[in-house]
Amino acid sequence: MTVSLGIPLMPGRVDPSIPPRPAGVKGLVDRYDRVATDLRVSLTDRCNLRCTYCMPADGLPWLDREQALSADEIVRLVRIAVTDLGVRQVRFTGGEPLLRGDLVEIIERCAALEPRPELSLTTNAIGLAERASALAAAGLDRVNVSLDSLHAETFANLTRRPFLQRVLDGVDAAARVGLGPIKINAVLLRGVNDHEAPALVAWALANGHELRFIEQMPLDADHTWSRDTMVTAADVRGLLASRFELTPADEPRDGAPAERFAVRERPRQAGPHGPDALGPEPVTSAVAPPLTGTIGIIASVTEPFCADCRRTRLTAEGSVRSCLFSHTETDLRGALRGGDPDEVVADLWRGAMWAKPAGHGLDDPAFVQPARSMSAIGG
Ligand code: 5AD
Ligand code: SF4
Repeated sequence: MTVSLGIPLMPGRVDPSIPPRPAGVKGLVDRYDRVATDLRVSLTDRCNLRCTYCMPADGLPWLDREQALSADEIVRLVRIAVTDLGVRQVRFTGGEPLLRGDLVEIIERCAALEPRPELSLTTNAIGLAERASALAAAGLDRVNVSLDSLHAETFANLTRRPFLQRVLDGVDAAARVGLGPIKINAVLLRGVNDHEAPALVAWALANGHELRFIEQMPLDADHTWSRDTMVTAADVRGLLASRFELTPADEPRDGAPAERFAVRERPRQAGPHGPDALGPEPVTSAVAPPLTGTIGIIASVTEPFCADCRRTRLTAEGSVRSCLFSHTETDLRGALRGGDPDEVVADLWRGAMWAKPAGHGLDDPAFVQPARSMSAIGG
């Protein structure tokens, strides 16, 4: 069985080289003793941006409406995940999840589940200004917003769309209705927006958001990723060093992909180019207090955290992916539409996760980029 992109589907039975799954385990455990409690659900493969590191300029062949899961099917799968499989956190992603007209309904119905999962949304924030308060009222807890540049022109080059102001309005609206703490995801590309790293941090700190830099992964539809040109976590620390002091946060990582740092703006230099040069006023009144807060760096490529991964993913057409970099998927939509009971669906899902690979294998010379791009998997 294959789907449109030619990705092999595993219909329940798995690779004979994988040892049998122990009977009676309810949760989403794998062969390496990891337990997935964090579910990412892609609500659509469509997007209204065309970020160069994700999509080709002309977009991708989108799923037909009937290929994508309906609201009923999504809520049923989330219910099975939460009540039968031990999932605690659910994040809706895309493509761009705000493109779904029934997003508020989906969130409302998921918020009514017992036990109630923590609900968050990863979005590019276009259209969020109009829907933030309805989403908060429906029970959404938090948003993560993708934002790589604060310069209108760079934003437009990187996303191939001139929508920076709409994103900033969306972030402000989300903060106003309490969808925080807001995390801002930024991917840096060498020579495109890497010089903006300190300005992005300053903006996030000044507005009370937590910025996370994400290393670019080989999940671009154009397959142009190269390890030699990607901006690494070490590069990010270097780019920030002249303006900010970073101290690793003293907290357990707890399966979180981001390594968090307390950041503090360095005192500005006194002298001919520093605040003293502003005039006769005392330095203290001319200098704003240093910005402080927390940032994260997600070093998926250079410092992988696969051994601690707690994620399971559902694509917009209802297949489980045990890893972003999987080459196989397990179809659940067929079981849903074929009338299978919850227990059968849950068992297919357990089987998919049991086969989860140990890691993404980016360092293996045999690494092959998955056929799907990030927008089609669901970040
Ligand atoms: N590498 C790293 N991050 C990516 N994203 C999309 N494509 C890639 C990639 N190739 C990010 C988006 C979004 C998050 C879900 O994933 O910027 O913030
Ligand atoms: Fe859309 Fe996100 Fe891909 Fe950009 S990275 S094109 S916002 S799905």
